Amino acid sequence: MFIDLKETILEVIYPGSFDPLTNGHLDIIERAADKFERVIVSVLNNQKKTYLFSLQERIDMLKKSVSHLKNVEIDNFDGLLIDYVNEKKCCMIIRGLRAVSDFEYEMLMAIANKKLNPCVETLFLVSASEYSFLSSSLVKEISGFGGDVSSMVPKYVEKALNKKFREEKNGK
Ligand code: PNS
Repeated sequence: MFIDLKETILEVIYPGSFDPLTNGHLDIIERAADKFERVIVSVLNNQKKTYLFSLQERIDMLKKSVSHLKNVEIDNFDGLLIDYVNEKKCCMIIRGLRAVSDFEYEMLMAIANKKLNPCVETLFLVSASEYSFLSSSLVKEISGFGGDVSSMVPKYVEKALNKKFREEKNGK
């Protein structure tokens, strides 16, 4: 017998840095949106971390790229993910798993979050094979050296990357 997750869990949180959003992230968002009533994609703004894109830029990228998904909301958080999840009264975190190399970090994070709140589950969606190599860092490196990332990120993000690296080059 199959369990229809739609009937048991209505809302999930998909947290991440999204610096920048990739097609791999988008694939996870679309698949989560298909299975759950509401998906909150939440952008981490860690004050101690340096991002290529500001919080607002990362939020804008997400908003532009998921506008076709009516049950997806974009939000942001800082501090502990579990505090944010509790605040939202949500009980499920979604993360994408690309390869075995992701597993150790993701598993530790899931266990730590479960220790902090045993009611919250982490659900892993395995990345589509065509995106298993893809990461925000890789995209930044390729784009920074002038490479073509058009098959790796949404159009809006590609433009934002071009703008960012051109501006940097011109010292703006
Ligand atoms: O896209 P990323 O950078 O892989 O996302 C990592 C993220 C945001 C999910 C993780 O770093 C996180 O949850 N940070 C918030 C701080 C926190 O709760 N840390 C402890 C996790 S056990």
